[in-house]
Amino acid sequence: MKIKTESSTKKKTQLLCGFVLENSNKVLGLGNYDSKTNFAINQSLKDMGGELGKLSIIPIIGKNPAQRILLAGIGKKENLTKDTIRAVSGKIALKARELKLKEFSIITPPSFVNETISSVAQIIEGVKMALYKFDKFKAEKTDNSPNLTVITSKSSKIAKIIKNSEIISDGAIFTKSIANLPPNECTPSTLANFAKTISKKNKMKCTVISKQELKKKGFGGISAVGQGSKNEPKLIVMEHKNGPRNEKPIVLVGKAVTFDTGGISLKPGANMDEMKFDKCGGCTVIGIMKAVSELNIPINVVGIVPSVENMPGGESYRPGDIIKLYNGKTAEILNTDAEGRLILADALAYGEKYYSPKAIIDFATLTGACIIALGTNVAAIVSNNEKLKNKINDSSKRTTEEVWELPLNQDYMDMIKSEVADMKNIGIGKAAGTITAAAFLRNAVENTPWVHIDIAGVAWTQTATKEKSYNPKGATGFGVRLILDYLQKL
Ligand code: BES
Ligand code: ZN
Ligand code: ZN
Repeated sequence: MKIKTESSTKKKTQLLCGFVLENSNKVLGLGNYDSKTNFAINQSLKDMGGELGKLSIIPIIGKNPAQRILLAGIGKKENLTKDTIRAVSGKIALKARELKLKEFSIITPPSFVNETISSVAQIIEGVKMALYKFDKFKAEKTDNSPNLTVITSKSSKIAKIIKNSEIISDGAIFTKSIANLPPNECTPSTLANFAKTISKKNKMKCTVISKQELKKKGFGGISAVGQGSKNEPKLIVMEHKNGPRNEKPIVLVGKAVTFDTGGISLKPGANMDEMKFDKCGGCTVIGIMKAVSELNIPINVVGIVPSVENMPGGESYRPGDIIKLYNGKTAEILNTDAEGRLILADALAYGEKYYSPKAIIDFATLTGACIIALGTNVAAIVSNNEKLKNKINDSSKRTTEEVWELPLNQDYMDMIKSEVADMKNIGIGKAAGTITAAAFLRNAVENTPWVHIDIAGVAWTQTATKEKSYNPKGATGFGVRLILDYLQKL
């Protein structure tokens, strides 16, 4: 789809869309029409009442540049959230596609409703993300996405924000598109190839460490989890160097288990197919790196993605094994399904050792317990640094990718102490599963400010997920917009 801007509502379009506040008698920013059209608009306004998410289409007769006018309810002004325009714009886009239109126009609401800059960004994000569809494996493809005209004042600031939002949305869409791939079509080496292709195109350095070298260099966690699959483990490292030469980078780490059967501690069969989404953390990091390089953000950022397939078999690691992680600490394996923390611990320690970063942020579909604690609309964060955590919280408020902090004190650290090794890879029973997993990761980071984001509930749409137009069924790309906001504000 293409995006352009217009400053007038009187340009030719198949569908002219405007937002309507609840119980209001006007379409925001629409301006006046001939009396017949005005009559139809007023009648429609009364009927739909500006209720949040309600769409109403008015066919236009007579001489008018718009073939139809669409009224889109955004609810009460005092209830508007940062997400309202994004979600309603996504809904409008899906309607335009359903009507098989070639293009449609959305009028940016005036600034007394929402800051113009954020409205424009939200319109673009909502429209682009809603129109993405995972149809790679279907003969019948969804119709091409209609083009969008954003009606707003023209300025270089707006032009910049449009470009910016397009890149950010494309990053999230890219993350969705690789995260949705089935496990037979996306192995650790497939992900490595995606990372290489993007890096080459966008002039980043990309290094992939393969099985033998991983073993030789002491990546005990990645090697152990990966040894049970014929699809060999990879450690993918992408470097965006666009800041001062000696400036310490931000390191992003993402869990990419291309399929998590649980290994020898096999998972129950129900919904096991969803464990193709156990690579979402890694896909988020790759999507962020793509956008970071396209936005030319003037900082140094490193993306590290440990990728494995967790399979049961004659070569698999076992409960009872004791392995040595990259930082030299030993871990007693008591459940091979708690594999994410093992591969992440290696990657975190590697990131800290090689890059002495300013901050480390990791993403992982790490624990089922996270869904029990917070459900499927909010991610858990655990951190060792107040300042970094606050920045992530601020970005979360702006992007509406919601996070909630869980505590991590010494008592939780004690829960993963092992009788026979430095740590064990599970806590005590089901108690605080998300935190004990984070406690394991905490052991892999020495002094660097760190935030861990458990995206088990939010990385893809699940039964309890709140429906949002811009999150069609499947992977959501959670974290891409959040971290790009954080990086752009640095
Ligand atoms: N990938 C899973 C966590 C998961 C489960 C994410 C369901 C999303 C939905 C992870 O590797 C895992 O299996 N964790 C175990 C840990 C337990 C054995 C300590 C879990 O959460 O049950
Ligand atoms: Zn697992
Ligand atoms: Zn897993």
